[in-house]
Amino acid sequence: MTEQIAILDFGSQYTQVIARRVRECNVYSIILRYDTPAREIARLNPRGLILSGGPSSVYAKNAPLPDRAIFQLGIPLLGICYGVQLLAQYLGGKVEPGQKREYGKGTLRVKDPSCPLFARLPASLQVWNSHGDKLTKLPAGFKPVAVTENSAYAAIENRAAKMFGLQFHPEVVHTPRGREILARFVHHICGCGKRWTMRNYVGQAVEAIRAQVGEDRVILGLSGGVDSSVAAALLHRAVGSQLTCIFVNNGLLRGREAEVVRQVFGRHFKIRLQCEDASRLFLRRLKRVTDPERKRKIIGRTFIEVFETATRRAGKAKFLAQGTLYPDVIESVPIGGNPAAMIKSHHNVGGLPKSMKFQLVEPLRCLFKDEVRELGLELGLPREIVLRQPFPGPGLAVRILGEVTPPRLAILRQADAIVLEEMKASGWYYRLWQSFAVLLPVRSVGVMGDERTYDYTVALRIVESQDGMTADWVKLPYDLLEKLSNRIINEVKGVNRVCFDITSKPPGTIEWE
Ligand code: XMP
Repeated sequence: MTEQIAILDFGSQYTQVIARRVRECNVYSIILRYDTPAREIARLNPRGLILSGGPSSVYAKNAPLPDRAIFQLGIPLLGICYGVQLLAQYLGGKVEPGQKREYGKGTLRVKDPSCPLFARLPASLQVWNSHGDKLTKLPAGFKPVAVTENSAYAAIENRAAKMFGLQFHPEVVHTPRGREILARFVHHICGCGKRWTMRNYVGQAVEAIRAQVGEDRVILGLSGGVDSSVAAALLHRAVGSQLTCIFVNNGLLRGREAEVVRQVFGRHFKIRLQCEDASRLFLRRLKRVTDPERKRKIIGRTFIEVFETATRRAGKAKFLAQGTLYPDVIESVPIGGNPAAMIKSHHNVGGLPKSMKFQLVEPLRCLFKDEVRELGLELGLPREIVLRQPFPGPGLAVRILGEVTPPRLAILRQADAIVLEEMKASGWYYRLWQSFAVLLPVRSVGVMGDERTYDYTVALRIVESQDGMTADWVKLPYDLLEKLSNRIINEVKGVNRVCFDITSKPPGTIEWE
């Protein structure tokens, strides 16, 4: 059985970050709901258990509470923030509202350097706090090992019982040595090796796919995005010509998209690739449509139709592969009945209709996005695909405000290509979440040479973000902005003005529609 660490999720915004940090130590991790029964945890046989932080108070009425029996499992345990408070509360300590909220940067002083969490770390460490409650009495058998200005129990241990607690957040980047603390926990306290690597995963995944699929055929909708591309490469490695990839050209793609897909997957990987050029159908249905929601609905519906027909043409297949990732699978924890904690991307297309009778293969189901990229490189996909920025399903249609017409698409494609080229050439492309052009249905007056022009405006949308849920505009150097503007106006006929979007999300969205 895979060596793994289980993380009980008490609703912290950082639970997934903890899971990722553990995996960065080359140890597999899974996230479980806070109330997962102890016997279920025992069945999963994790080497260690981490109790996440969370926004509640342990003594609040609706506080998420774990199964009491988890403290008797004998599995090494690490409580973080809310997690350490739970640990204290359940084992006979005391938690009370603090005099002062401890929030933001703090300095941790390690009082007992023999504590295995802090071995070989300096006696003074920068840490990041975010809590109002405070441990005021330790449970029997525990002792403090580190303090902060406001907390005499910033780190505690019961070494014999292999139970540890941190009042601060070791998983966030603002605790610069936090990774090492987590690494100490998983390797030295839990005794995990370093077996979780994408190189090892390829082997495991290939076996699992073969076992599931047998001699049957698999169909995959290939969009050219990171997830479906990596899924395609992995499935191809596992089942070769039993895989057929269907690529739908909806006429709303970037300039070289269809060509790159054909070249990489068709010619290089020699994957059985079925390209469906449905541009005309999409554009016909989008004629005179200006409402953003209607555009999205038409595109979504048409895609399903085209895909369904294409699968029939591809011949009989038992399996449909999807690039589902781990964050789509983790069950969200609604805290205090607050549905905000449950919000998932509104973009996850609800899947294909039930009438399509396939069994699902989801070979990326247990991976985080960073791991998918790493896996892609491991499988030999080009960086251009693996490290690419997200591109929305409805494509350029949501970047052309107003009606989508072939001439407008041609203008936007040219501007978009320039943005892509300059962002890559300047090295900014791979540092950002997204950088693209938007075509506005606004025309304004300009002069070019001796001529008066009356042309369109392009907006530049260049943002950084962790997950697309919030974003900030990037303060690009003026000379790069100047170059982008000059090139777009000089090279793209029909555009005489370039604007730079300086709206964060919220209140703006990343896409303009
Ligand atoms: P917004 O515009 O909502 O976008 O701030 C957040 C992120 O999601 C991407 N996006 C989509 N992705 N299908 C997708 O697969 C869609 O319909 C869609 N709409 C937006 C957007 O590019 C950004 O990264």
